Amino acid sequence: MQSTNLFFSVLNIATFILDPSTQALIYLSLVMTYTTLTQGFAAVIFLIALYCGLDPFKHSPLHGFPDFEAHKINMPSWSEVPMDHDKHNLLQKSELMFVNQVQGPESVAFDPHGLGPYTGVADGRILFWNGLSWTDFAYTSFNRSELCNPKASASPLSYVETEHICGRPLGLRFDKKTGDLYIADAYFGLMKVGPQGGLATSLTTEAEGVPLRFTNDVDIDAEGNIYFTDSSTTYQRRNFNQLIFSGENSGRVLKYSPATKKTTVLARNLGFPNGISLSKDDSFFVFSEGLIGRLCKYWLKGDKAGTSEILAILPGFPDNVRVNEDGDYWVAIHCRRYMYSYINALFPKMRKAILKLPIPTLFHYLLQIGGRFHAVVVKYSPEGKILQILEDSEGKVVKAVSEVEEKDGKLWMGSVLMPFIAVYHLT
Ligand SMILES: *[C@@H]1O[C@H](CO)[C@@H](O)[C@H](O)[C@H]1NC(C)=O
Repeated sequence: MQSTNLFFSVLNIATFILDPSTQALIYLSLVMTYTTLTQGFAAVIFLIALYCGLDPFKHSPLHGFPDFEAHKINMPSWSEVPMDHDKHNLLQKSELMFVNQVQGPESVAFDPHGLGPYTGVADGRILFWNGLSWTDFAYTSFNRSELCNPKASASPLSYVETEHICGRPLGLRFDKKTGDLYIADAYFGLMKVGPQGGLATSLTTEAEGVPLRFTNDVDIDAEGNIYFTDSSTTYQRRNFNQLIFSGENSGRVLKYSPATKKTTVLARNLGFPNGISLSKDDSFFVFSEGLIGRLCKYWLKGDKAGTSEILAILPGFPDNVRVNEDGDYWVAIHCRRYMYSYINALFPKMRKAILKLPIPTLFHYLLQIGGRFHAVVVKYSPEGKILQILEDSEGKVVKAVSEVEEKDGKLWMGSVLMPFIAVYHLT
């Protein structure tokens, strides 16, 4: 027993500090010494440990990320994570629309005439539903080729390989006055396209000399100022798993002024900032912080202008935020916060050790989301009070919601991972 414990301590230290070839040599010499000292059982355990240490088939999510660092996330106390549930699983009453016609429709927007929805899909196009069929409305990549063409029955994630070439439009918002559509494209930054659609034009791709690396969501005030999020300056969207696993906080909230064409940083050092939504009177905006799982309010007017405060601790990992007619906020929760991801957030060394094991990324991802896709959407008051919570805790109908857009008594729910838009009737 003693020697086994010692062995595992050595193994742990070795996986932390040594490069793979040195590790291999040490393991091999240990194997030889060890097997001469003990019986076959220990040797089998040892070979398993060797396999875990070397990851010969490159299954670990850290493979290809030599600079990966795991950071501690300053989580609120567990008792602050809200446990409110929708006992009736009301989202299971939703209708799934456009199944397999839209791949990964993250954001859902209606134009100033109420037409749509418009949505950005995995192959980089922005589509428009004209009431009868989907038509191509706009695109973000100037370099679109056959490479980007939609593939029959391909899943949203299968486009990840080419999305840095084809574009990945995430947040969409119409300027109600001009009818222009503003686009947060994960790779091409902040963009805009006129009411006729076509190739979008770039507004900004950097701030303070630091390139936007993962532009995520956008909103516009009545004066035409644009507020948007850049989820990370380290990881791109196609490596969103590594961003989540690392817990790094290089995300920013930014403002683009069309008058000066300047981009300024309003909030920085954020862990995966995601959705953003102005208040009805433009006196503040609300944005979600993914890794901590909270909602913040940033004041634009009044005594507190230029400062931010925590509005609510969320029940899980948030995506987009959308204001409704009443001035309340629908927050799409990608997945609930479970004890596993909570503890992982607090102990980065343990997290990194687990991530080094030869376990595929999908498995780590499933551990994070509690084993299966599910759906949670929450309505908050401007003061951060939970007004309504709707869910499909088993993911029977709705899964992994990215955005909730309320229109005429219906909730339109997009998902960056699913091939449909879900519609829930509020009354
Ligand atoms: C344009 O797309 C091709 C693939 O179709 C890619 O190899 C090339 O790097 C792209 N060029 C630019 C400037 O993005």
